[in-house]
Amino acid sequence: MRKPLIVGNWKMWGSREKAKNLVAGIVAQDSDEMVDWGVCPPFPYITQVLEQVGCDRVGAQTVSADVDVPHTGDVSAAMLADLGIRWAIVGHSERRAERGESDGIVSQQLRCAIEKGLTPILCVGETFEQREQGNEERVVRSQLEVALAGAEANWPLVIAYEPVWAIGTGVVAEPHQVQAMHAMIRSVLSNLGISGGETPILYGGSVKPENANGLFALDDVDGALVGGASLDSEAFLAIIEAARSAKAA
Ligand code: PGA
Repeated sequence: MRKPLIVGNWKMWGSREKAKNLVAGIVAQDSDEMVDWGVCPPFPYITQVLEQVGCDRVGAQTVSADVDVPHTGDVSAAMLADLGIRWAIVGHSERRAERGESDGIVSQQLRCAIEKGLTPILCVGETFEQREQGNEERVVRSQLEVALAGAEANWPLVIAYEPVWAIGTGVVAEPHQVQAMHAMIRSVLSNLGISGGETPILYGGSVKPENANGLFALDDVDGALVGGASLDSEAFLAIIEAARSAKAA
């Protein structure tokens, strides 16, 4: 069975003090080896967080698509690997929409991360309009096919299905919508030659302690990418606990 994975995406929130207290709150109470978890802090706080929890529990929120070029402000996969951190989120819808990161750029970011030994967390998901038009599966399939073209079976990979309309809105996708999409993602991965049965597929978009049980009960949901609720240690721990009890059931 795939081990549940809960990843916190802190986005552009926090301060040195808040990051320290948040991580301390999680570590103090987490004793659950049945669930894997980690956090993706803003870049300035990555080092202090990994000193608190170890690099296996830390990811970056993005990574440069380029290698050895003079790009002011960018952070390369080599630098992240130098810190020893484990994951890099690529393709988050906020970066696709607001930073112009196309499927092609996402594909390059993913390759840069893998090349340096990081595990990419590839985010995919449709907008509200795309779902209204019945295009959600076509959109997600295409995002996967472009990002993962030429993938090798042994690439380390996590997929996060994040419907754009559910991110930060408090509107969580219905269980039947999530299960249908996750099952499709698994079959697309298998068709691309990636071990679909082994790849963790997370759901993201307004995950909270109150809705986590229903999501984690679904066959093809292996955990969550959590934004807002990951900024509160009690809520984040409650989501970890929901994953544990759903998968133990
Ligand atoms: P949310 O964000 O949990 O606040 O909806 C999820 C994400 O953007 O990864």
